[in-house]
Amino acid sequence: MALRVLATMIMVIAHQAHGSGRGSMGLASGITDPPIAGICSTSVSVHGYRCHEIDVETQDGFILSMQRIPEGRDGGGDTERPPVLIQHGVLVDGMTWLLNPPEQNLPLILADRGFDVWIANTRGTRYSCRHTSLQPIMNRCLNLLLQPHLDQYKWPDVLLAAVLRGFWNWSWDEMVVFDLPAIFDYVYSQTGQKAHYVGHSLGTLIALASFSEGLLVDKLKSAVLLSPIAYLSHMNTALGVAAAKVFAGEITTLFGLAEFNPKGEPVAKFLKALCDYPGVDCYDLLTSITGQNCCLNASTVDLFLKNEPQSTSTKNMVHLAQTVRDGVLAKYNYGNPYFNVMHYGEAKPPIYNLSNIPHNLPIFISYGGKDALSDVRDVELLLDSLKLHDVDKLTIQYIKDYAHADFIMGVNAKDIVYNQVVSFFNHQH
Ligand SMILES: *[C@@H]1O[C@H](CO)[C@@H](O)[C@H](O)[C@H]1NC(C)=O
Ligand SMILES: *[C@@H]1O[C@H](CO)[C@@H](O)[C@H](O)[C@H]1NC(C)=O
Ligand SMILES: *[C@@H]1O[C@H](CO)[C@@H](O)[C@H](O)[C@H]1NC(C)=O
Repeated sequence: MALRVLATMIMVIAHQAHGSGRGSMGLASGITDPPIAGICSTSVSVHGYRCHEIDVETQDGFILSMQRIPEGRDGGGDTERPPVLIQHGVLVDGMTWLLNPPEQNLPLILADRGFDVWIANTRGTRYSCRHTSLQPIMNRCLNLLLQPHLDQYKWPDVLLAAVLRGFWNWSWDEMVVFDLPAIFDYVYSQTGQKAHYVGHSLGTLIALASFSEGLLVDKLKSAVLLSPIAYLSHMNTALGVAAAKVFAGEITTLFGLAEFNPKGEPVAKFLKALCDYPGVDCYDLLTSITGQNCCLNASTVDLFLKNEPQSTSTKNMVHLAQTVRDGVLAKYNYGNPYFNVMHYGEAKPPIYNLSNIPHNLPIFISYGGKDALSDVRDVELLLDSLKLHDVDKLTIQYIKDYAHADFIMGVNAKDIVYNQVVSFFNHQH
């Protein structure tokens, strides 16, 4: 069985590396002027809020898309409003925050409650798939490019493969080193204020890793971590565990660096193979990945499945799988001591030591009893590593019935979580 999955995986990677993968996103229809409706127009302005699309460049040349909602539906943008930066998790993008009706979703609630809201989209997702140093023709999500236009431009295979390897050559380490600093710097440069932060899932892991390295903390007022992930050893979704086993085989060293596009046919095949694993039930894919969510609205889930999942790099999936396997929060493991020494000067990848997070940083953690990705036992490990944190700077909320997706899409998340988040922010001065 494992062999079969691995064989599928080889197909996935080979297929994508040769640029013949045909995703099902169907968005591309012109290279110079791609008809992309941004998140502002599809999900914010329609509800009567002002919204700006913004591009932010990272030091390693990625162009990240952000949305700024500077005021509430009834205005109020003239007064000084505290900025809040909202960071989504893996395999989704900033739009997931906006799928519920306006009175139920976090960004618009924050805008109506007096905040200047900034939504981030990590590298590789639909709107953050551009890079400065690639040729203009490549200056769009490569995933989109690989579809109808490829033949027309006749890129030599070797050249294309090289560009692809460069483009997808990152894991969440690069989000820590490049993405978060770029967006924090940008928000600071525009507002002159330190920002509050809200992260979900991978958005919590990269934040914790950053804070532990002393990054961002001079531009940060407080941090809210929903479904926090730092340790993943107890992850109890059968699908997740099966996937982690396959990825932890360090497939990138065997098969090269490529896109992991869950909407593309090759990855769909890969998922299907995983679903044949004993104990894995893919009847309800969202549940089999996130755990039994208590409080989702069926129309929101439909919207979610139309817009997500989003691409990430295979290397990022491998890095996450290493976190599951190794039980420590460490940098990407190159798979053998020689390569690790080349990259880090040490045989093992350096760890992110969470005890180094400044003890006086105001942190709010909210976690759920039914969350299959952010398992209660792993959250307890995280809390244990924060045991030296100043007691009055750490707020912890436990929600018995919540699973992973309830925190972003729960119909009652406003009452249970977001109101607490707002009052937590209002208490920081
Ligand atoms: C579910 O979502 C639909 C569409 O946004 C909305 O009309 C409906 O009120 C929502 N239901 C609940 C219980 O919030
Ligand atoms: C990928 O990035 C690493 C540094 O993080 C670099 O050493 C390596 O050469 C890069 N590989 C490719 C194919 O770009
Ligand atoms: C993490 O840092 C703390 C204090 O800064 C230190 O006591 C501890 O040994 C470190 N842990 C590891 C695994 O290096």
